[in-house]
Amino acid sequence: MTYAAVYQSWKDDPEAFWMQAAEAIDWTQKPSKALFDENAPLYQWYVDGKVNTCWNAVDRHVQAGRGDQTAIIYDSPITHTKHEITYAELQTRVASLAGALRAKGIGKGDRVLIYMPMVPEALEAMLACARLGAVHSVVFGGFAANELAVRIDDAQPKCIIAASCGLEPGRVVHYKPLLDGAIEQSTHKVDFCVVFQREQEVAKLEEGRDFDWYGFQYGIEPADCVPVEGNHPAYILYTSGTTGAPKGVVRPTGGHLVALNWTMKNVYNVDPGDVFWAASDVGWVVGHSYICYAPLITGNTTIVFEGKPVGTPDAGTFWRVISEHKVKSFFTAPTAFRAVKREDPKGEFVKKYDLSCLEQVYLAGERADPDTIEWAHDKLGVPVIDHWWQTETGYAIAANPLGIEALPIKLGSPAVPMPGFDVQILDEAGHPMAPNELGAIAIKLPLPPGTLPTLWNAEDRFKKSYLQQFPGYYETGDAGMIDEDGYLYIMARTDDVINVAGHRLSTGAMEEVLAAHPDVAECAVIGVTDQLKGQLPMGFLCLNSGSDKAHDAVVMDVVKMVRSKIGPVAAFKLACVVERLPKTRSGKILRGTMVKIADGEDFKMPATIDDPVILDEIRTALQGLGYAK
Ligand code: COA
Ligand code: AMP
Repeated sequence: MTYAAVYQSWKDDPEAFWMQAAEAIDWTQKPSKALFDENAPLYQWYVDGKVNTCWNAVDRHVQAGRGDQTAIIYDSPITHTKHEITYAELQTRVASLAGALRAKGIGKGDRVLIYMPMVPEALEAMLACARLGAVHSVVFGGFAANELAVRIDDAQPKCIIAASCGLEPGRVVHYKPLLDGAIEQSTHKVDFCVVFQREQEVAKLEEGRDFDWYGFQYGIEPADCVPVEGNHPAYILYTSGTTGAPKGVVRPTGGHLVALNWTMKNVYNVDPGDVFWAASDVGWVVGHSYICYAPLITGNTTIVFEGKPVGTPDAGTFWRVISEHKVKSFFTAPTAFRAVKREDPKGEFVKKYDLSCLEQVYLAGERADPDTIEWAHDKLGVPVIDHWWQTETGYAIAANPLGIEALPIKLGSPAVPMPGFDVQILDEAGHPMAPNELGAIAIKLPLPPGTLPTLWNAEDRFKKSYLQQFPGYYETGDAGMIDEDGYLYIMARTDDVINVAGHRLSTGAMEEVLAAHPDVAECAVIGVTDQLKGQLPMGFLCLNSGSDKAHDAVVMDVVKMVRSKIGPVAAFKLACVVERLPKTRSGKILRGTMVKIADGEDFKMPATIDDPVILDEIRTALQGLGYAK
C-alpha cells in the first residue's frame, strides 16, 4: 500500500483504521469502539477497553518467548559503563519495584514524580508505575528545584523517585539538594521518596521519608500488572506554555499504546528484535515515547545513552554507539548534528565506524535546517527524515513514513501528515488558506488516539489554549504552510515559546524571573537565532528609576536567577539594560520586531509603534551583545 492509500483508508473510515491498529495490543478487555465523542469537542479513545502498558511493553514479550532478547542497552560514555538488560530481567526488576511501591501504598491513579538522569532505572520507574496503574510525571534533570516544586504542587504526587545525582560532562548534578529544596518549597507534601544511589554520589537519606531503591525492595512480593481503562492517564508530562505555569499534558493509556505501536513499523521502519535508538532524555516527550515506551511495546531493543553528541569523548560517539549496538533507526535533534558537524565537518569520525547496520535517521524537536540534513545525508548515506511533533501529540503529526513508502524528500519540510491528523493552514478568521500561503497550523478535531485529551486539572486552560481560537480544530501554536504536493513547512511558533537546543522553553516564564529582581521595573525576553542551538533566550531589562546598581551586576544577577529558578537548561546567558522597551500605542511589547532586529532581518515598521526611536536604542544594545550586525 502507498502512503496515499493508507492515509485515505484512515480518512474513509477512521473508526475501522484505529480498531484495526488496536489489534496489535494485548487488551484484558477489548474496547467496543475506538472513538468516544459524547463530550465533543473533548474526545477520548478506547474508553471501555481494559489494558496495562507494562504488560504490553514487557511481560507479553517474555510470555511470547523473547525473554532472552535485550530490552535495554545502557551506554554511558560519561561513567564508562555499558550493560544490557533482557526482557526477562526487566520484568523481574519492574515487578519487584512495583511491588515495593505498592507495599508503601501506591496504587492505581496515584501520582509518582520521577526525577532521574539517563539510567535504565528511570525506565524501570516509569514501567513500575505503569504496572500499578499509577500516573508518573517525569521531570527533566536540567530543571531547578523551583520547577520541580511547581510540578509537585500541580501533580500532587504521593511519592517521588529520584536518583542521587545526574552527570554532565565535568560536573556532578546534585539531585538530592534540588529534591529537598523542591519538597520544602512545595505546599503539597509527599508521603515518601525513593532514592537510587549512584556510585558517583551517595546522597544522605532523610530518616522516615527517604528509602533506598534496593533496600525498600528487600523481601517484597513482586506486583502483577493492573489493568486500567483505555482513557486512564498513563502519565503527565509538563511542557512550556506562554506563562510561567507549565502545562500538564495528559497521556491516555489505550491510545498511547495503539498509536506508538503503529508508528514503529510505519514511521520508523523497525520490526521486533531490531535496535532502535532515540538520543534524547527521558525528561522530554521524545524520551517517553521513543526511549521508553514505543520500542518496548514493539519488542525492540532500546538504548539509554548517558552522554552528549560531542565531548563524551568526541564527535564520533553517535557513530560508535550505532556501530557497536547495531542500531537500525536512529533519532536525534538537529542541534545535536549541528554540534557534531561543527567539530567534524568532514565526517572523519564517521569513517572510523562500520555503520552498515544503520538504515535511516530521524530528526525532530525543532526545525531541521537543510544544511544539517544535507550534511548528515552526505556523511551517513542513508535517508535523513525530518518529522514534526509536539509534547501534546506524543508522536509525529507529519513525517515521511519509510515503513509504508519512502516519499521524495523536500528539504525544509517534515513531509506529510500521518493518518489521524487532518492538518490545515488557517487565516486569522479560521478560513483555510491556499497552498503555499503562510498561516496558523491547525488540526481538525478529533485528534487521533494517544494525543492529549486534556491538561492535568486544567480543562479550561486546555480549551482556551488549544480549542478556542479555531472552533472544531486543535491549534498547534506553530505557523507554516502546505505546498501543492501536500508537504508541510513549519516556520515559527505563534506564541511566546522558544526552542533552545531542541528544548521547549517559555520566554514568559523567564520574564517572570527577571521581573522579580528588585531593580528591574520592566523586562522582555526574546529568542534570537543561534547557529548551534537554533534559538537562545535574550533578556532586556529596564531598571527602576533611581536604581544605582551597575548594569553589569544586574545582568549577572538575572543570569544567576534564571539558572537557579528555571535551571541550566534554559541556557539564559544574554541580557542587557535598556532605557525603554519598544511598544505599540496600546502598550504591547514588540517582541517580534526585536527578534528581527537581532537576527539582522528586514522588518516593516509596525504601524502602531509608540516611538520608533526606541528601536535604534534596541539595535545599539543588541550590537553590544554581538547581534544585529
Ligand atoms: N541535568 C542537568 N543539567 C543539564 C542537563 C541535565 N539533564 N542537560 C543539560 N544540562 C545543562 C548543561 O550542563 C548546560 O549547563 P552549563 O550552562 O553549565 O554548561 C546547560 O544545561 C545547557 O545544556 P545543553 O543544552 O545540553 O547545552 P550544551 O552547550 O551543554 O550542549 C548540545 C550543546 C548541542 C551538545 C546539546 O544541547 C545537545 O546535545 N542537544 C541535543 C538535545 C536533544 O537531544 N534534545 C532532544 C529533544 S528531542
Ligand atoms: P516539544 O513539545 O518540546 O516537542 O516542542 C514542540 C515544538 O517544537 C513544535 O510545536 C515546533 O514548534 C517544534 N518542532 C518540533 N519538531 C519540529 C520539526 N520537525 N520542524 C519544525 N519545528 C519542530
